[in-house]
Amino acid sequence: MFIGIDLGTSSLKASAVLQNGEIVAACSESYELLTPQEGWCEQNPADWASAMFLSIKKLGEKVDLSKVQGISFSGQMHGLVCLDENNKVIRPAILWNDQRTALETDYLNESVGLTKLVQWTGNRAVTGFTAPKVLWMKNNEPENFAKIRKIMLPKDYLAFLLSGVFATDVSDASGTLFFDVKNRCWSKPMLELLSIQESMLPTVYESSQAIGSVALEVAQTTGLSITAKVVIGGGDQAVGAIGTGTVAEGNISVSLGTSGVVFAACDSFYNEEQGLLHNFCHANNKYHYMGVTLAAGASRSWIAETLSIDDFGAIDEKVKELGIDSLIYTPYLTGERSPIFAPQIKGGLFGLTLQTTPAHIMKAVMEGVAFSLRDCLQVMRDVGVKIDKARCIGGGSKSDVWMQILADVLQVPICRINTADGGALGAAILAMVGTGLYVSVEDACSKLIKDEKTFYPNADNVKRYNEKFAQYKDFQQYSLRSASV
Ligand code: XUL
Repeated sequence: MFIGIDLGTSSLKASAVLQNGEIVAACSESYELLTPQEGWCEQNPADWASAMFLSIKKLGEKVDLSKVQGISFSGQMHGLVCLDENNKVIRPAILWNDQRTALETDYLNESVGLTKLVQWTGNRAVTGFTAPKVLWMKNNEPENFAKIRKIMLPKDYLAFLLSGVFATDVSDASGTLFFDVKNRCWSKPMLELLSIQESMLPTVYESSQAIGSVALEVAQTTGLSITAKVVIGGGDQAVGAIGTGTVAEGNISVSLGTSGVVFAACDSFYNEEQGLLHNFCHANNKYHYMGVTLAAGASRSWIAETLSIDDFGAIDEKVKELGIDSLIYTPYLTGERSPIFAPQIKGGLFGLTLQTTPAHIMKAVMEGVAFSLRDCLQVMRDVGVKIDKARCIGGGSKSDVWMQILADVLQVPICRINTADGGALGAAILAMVGTGLYVSVEDACSKLIKDEKTFYPNADNVKRYNEKFAQYKDFQQYSLRSASV
């Protein structure tokens, strides 16, 4: 048996998984999101730790913990966790969705410059990444900054508590912006720029590598065996993609959660000078390319609430009857991340008439989200990433209509898969590989994850959506111009 620990932003989920991928027990514990000022998002690492130990205890009420061979993690990315000389947490962790670092992010992109950043790290700065947070702490909390002896990412703190080993993995390290993604090591020029010494940083492992075993005192209090391996795991996007079997070049996953993510597995590192997408190490010893649209499911929930639509199934039936009209939605309800990086941009609905019904608007919303994902996919195609098929996960993947729209807009077959919980399964797969049960992540995925239903692009719709996408881009440019005045 294996345990996958999914350290999310609202809760921690621990799942006991058998070697055939079956999840035999799962529990989750939620914790508080601290918002001490507008735009700030913090959490206490001690709350994550309590949630982990409580969840393991609860799992122990359902399964025999002494049989667990390996434990691994999927972690919310980018969060800054700092420890002092006594290994005590210095301040609450600053999270991935914290927006306080606008100044530091502009400084990195504009004064240090995109060219250097992309050359050193493979990426541009965004407010959520760890490097701008380090700069913020240096500029705003110098006494705290001076106390730092260890810097780590959220899941690394949990791995440290379980094993006593100070480690991170390549996929999560990629989201710090002080990691040289291409060469899979810390970036010396970035460390210098941020006044970080390499000794403050964890040893970097591949995501499926064991960093050690459960520490004796942890074994004594939890009932886990001291022979259970702690496998470092990875950032939630990479591990979620492992859970969907997105591991070979040609495969992408599309996640329709609150935000939308298009994630491509790549065999090699692709250079793209503008840093239009996140260019990260994957959890299978290779690379991945990722674009994020901020309001995907959030757009659908917002329009449903606004138009008092409470039955997604019924509205989908009406949407299914509609042709492709000229109503266009741009999903920038909370600004946009990739590939336009425009925090100020606003969403829009263009082309309303007296004949427009809620179903027309819902269809435009689904199409608009698909267009914003296509915008990211286009960058991938432009640098030469091969894209043959996509697997879709997240709440939106339950809608057949939305899946068909995605297939038509992205021009790629879209599959729904046999498993739901990508994060927990992905983490358990890494634990299985780290303990030697499978020879590779690819081997495990091919045995555990299967396609259930595939939606193929329809040639007529593809043609019509090509025209509509060009109009979407016009409205995007218009909205970018309006946002800058
Ligand atoms: C990835 C990202 C999120 C967070 C929180 O870039 O910001 O996936 O890891 O889930």
